[in-house]
Amino acid sequence: MKVLIQRKNEFAFTCDTLILPLLEGERTKLYRDLNKLLNAIPDKVISSGEFTGKPNEVCLIHTKGKIKPDRILLIGLGKKKEVTPEKLRQAGGKAISYLGSLNNKNIALSAGIISTLKLSPVYFIEGGLLANYRFSRYKKEKDHKEIKKITVLSNEDLYKETRWIKTVATAAHFARDLVNTPSNDMTPSALVRAARSLKNVSVKVIEKSQAEKLGMGAYLSVAKGSVEPPKFIVITYKGKNIPPVALVGKSITFDSGGISLKPGEGMEKMKYDMAGGAAVLGAIKAASEVNMPVHIVGILPAAENLPGGSASKPGDVVKTIGGKTIEIISTDAEGRLALADAIEYAKRFKPSAIIDIATLTGACSITFGSEAIAMMGNNEPIMEKMKKASLETYEKVWQMPLFDEYKDYIKSDIADLKNSGGRSGSLSSSAYFLKEFAGETPWLHLDIAGTAWTDKDRPYTPKGATGIGVRLLLSFLKAYN
Ligand code: BES
Ligand code: MN
Ligand code: ZN
Repeated sequence: MKVLIQRKNEFAFTCDTLILPLLEGERTKLYRDLNKLLNAIPDKVISSGEFTGKPNEVCLIHTKGKIKPDRILLIGLGKKKEVTPEKLRQAGGKAISYLGSLNNKNIALSAGIISTLKLSPVYFIEGGLLANYRFSRYKKEKDHKEIKKITVLSNEDLYKETRWIKTVATAAHFARDLVNTPSNDMTPSALVRAARSLKNVSVKVIEKSQAEKLGMGAYLSVAKGSVEPPKFIVITYKGKNIPPVALVGKSITFDSGGISLKPGEGMEKMKYDMAGGAAVLGAIKAASEVNMPVHIVGILPAAENLPGGSASKPGDVVKTIGGKTIEIISTDAEGRLALADAIEYAKRFKPSAIIDIATLTGACSITFGSEAIAMMGNNEPIMEKMKKASLETYEKVWQMPLFDEYKDYIKSDIADLKNSGGRSGSLSSSAYFLKEFAGETPWLHLDIAGTAWTDKDRPYTPKGATGIGVRLLLSFLKAYN
């Protein structure tokens, strides 16, 4: 969706629909003018109770040639004192998806009322951009038309902010596309192609034979049951000459559980087990496109987890690149095996921090539903920074404990560690497992198992892959120094 910004009179602007945000119980001068021009129809809509201005309420009014816009879409913002950036995103999302379903092409937003609230209209646009997404690659007949163009009618200079948010939303859509793509098309090799499509970055792929030489036994064990070759992808973006932040994304392109096979019901969703890797690619894409002054090393240990004659078995012991041995209790706890090698490998870049992002545990989605990312780490200041990014983006993170007692959960009788401490406490014990590989390096873990996918449409997130992590990581990186 193209976003243009113009200083023009609302009622003289020719378009399919003009979006007019309204507060609950308040009538602006613009509204009163409109009411006069439209023979008091807006007042009727309100007095009948059809529209009250509550958050995300919509009402469409045809203008019958009385003014230039063909229609007015009233969208509620709720009470003046209760409007927040997130409410604006949601209202923008609601308005755009509503108009998308009407097959509108050329729309406009009256931004004045948002500016008077001392909030940026760009939040509204952000929600609109994020909502204007459907995954239709495999459909001949598209059941939803994306909106092509919106003109923001505003007296503010919104150019820079708008350009940034467009880059961010495009990156989130890029990540959503990767995650929505089924695993027959989204293989580790396809992830390599996605990484190579980014500009201003260097991409290195460690092939299986090289990974064997390096001793990435834990990571490689995950791919053994599949004919898809594993690809350990390393992407570097250097926008500043400082130690890098390492972003490690879980990139299991399909997680069947392996020999510890998952139940069949819902297994089709396990294509989203590479959502961490997709978030890392999305964040690097946007950062590199705007030449953000940061240094990032993105690491995607990509593999497919299938059962097979050569697959890993419960009880097998594997050795990581750093020399630690792991007893595989469950081949379904494959993410931490791949991440163990990836986190150890990340340390070779002497990063100032390692952030891993992973659809790691079922326990995460049981705990939070689709509402929050579980965060754990060994460094409070970095976690504080992540919480700030979370408040800014409303990609909500919630810190969970990493008590030393969890060490016992992953003690093995025959190896240095085991990859599963059982179901109880698995949100924390899985993170504790990763912590053992981060060692002294500042490290933060984001479990996105609950948030990477949504089964229902949300105000600015249509069903399916959410693209979670892209906005959060970008907001974190922007403030990181
Ligand atoms: N990819 C799954 C976690 C997951 C579950 C993500 C549901 C999204 C939705 C992960 O590899 C896994 O299977 N975890 C197991 C670990 C257990 C066997 C120790 C889990 O959490 O059940
Ligand atoms: Mn698994
Ligand atoms: Zn998994």
